[in-house]
Amino acid sequence: MTILVLGATGKTGRRLVPRLRGMGVEVRAASRSGETRFDWSEREGWAGVLHGVSAVYLVAPEEPDVVEAFVSAAVRAGVGRFVVLSGRGIDRAAEVLPPRADGSAGVFGPGMVAAEEAVKASGADWSVIRANNFAQNFSEDVWTAPVEAGRLALPLGAVGEPFVDIEDVADVAAVLLTEDGHAGRIYDVSGPESLTFAEAVEVIGRWTKPIEYVELTPDQYADELRAEGYPEDVVEILESMFGLMRAGHLSAPADGVEQVLGRPPATFTAYAERTFGSQ
Ligand SMILES: NC(=O)c1ccc[n+]([C@@H]2O[C@H](COP(=O)([O-])OP(=O)(O)OC[C@H]3O[C@@H](n4cnc5c(N)ncnc54)[C@H](OP(=O)(O)O)[C@@H]3O)[C@@H](O)[C@H]2O)c1
Repeated sequence: MTILVLGATGKTGRRLVPRLRGMGVEVRAASRSGETRFDWSEREGWAGVLHGVSAVYLVAPEEPDVVEAFVSAAVRAGVGRFVVLSGRGIDRAAEVLPPRADGSAGVFGPGMVAAEEAVKASGADWSVIRANNFAQNFSEDVWTAPVEAGRLALPLGAVGEPFVDIEDVADVAAVLLTEDGHAGRIYDVSGPESLTFAEAVEVIGRWTKPIEYVELTPDQYADELRAEGYPEDVVEILESMFGLMRAGHLSAPADGVEQVLGRPPATFTAYAERTFGSQ
């Protein structure tokens, strides 16, 4: 059995690959700069990447258009199982987000939505991990620079977020890819407790310099992102995500980690101590 891990150099993929190899599984670790070259935009390379693969960890591209063709190609190549990394609350985006320019319903994460739809229609076994915001966004992604600067400014108010530790996401993905009994299941995965962003940076600040939390309006937030040089598509994605979060659809802890792993998820404090306590 060979498992294809897409996004293998990314935050979850680079944790998943060694877990699977440690279990004795043959892994093809793929991305544009990974061990195996894979680019969503290079269809001519897909057949080689999919040769001999039985299961795929599917980290979706931002753009939805190519996903269905890839999933079809994978099934033709013999893939019998997909595990999709998706986002908590994407099924409720239309309730919250304004309609798009063409009048269609608001969608958050169109690539992830397309990936969920494609695997469900594929005829293969599938399961979906719908994750809350990753705790590691504070150390490996969009909130790293604010933590280092000592100022995190967001448009969220007192809504809590049960940040999930991606060590848990990788553990869940490894089980779903290698064990039976999860076909057709969607797992909402989060941490064990909701923290406001002000509380989250207070926790991190126990091991770093103090971090100020500043509340912004959505418009002020978009202006700050533009001033920091973020392109308009990223500004829109982040605005949409905070729209979903403000609606409260993501704020209650979910039990997906416990369901799959039979143990509670890691706390945000444990993540922060492990990550910032050693710096
Ligand atoms: N951050 C969160 O809080 C959160 C929460 C829920 C869901 N998600 C979802 O998680 C997914 C991201 O997963 P992640 O955080 O593990 O990855 P990540 O750290 O965002 O890294 C992205 C990965 O995709 C690869 N990649 C980028 N462009 C590519 C292309 N054109 N063709 C092939 N590979 C490409 C990158 O590798 P190369 O550069 O080498 O190609 C990298 O391995 C997104 O769909 C996001 O919406 C994120």
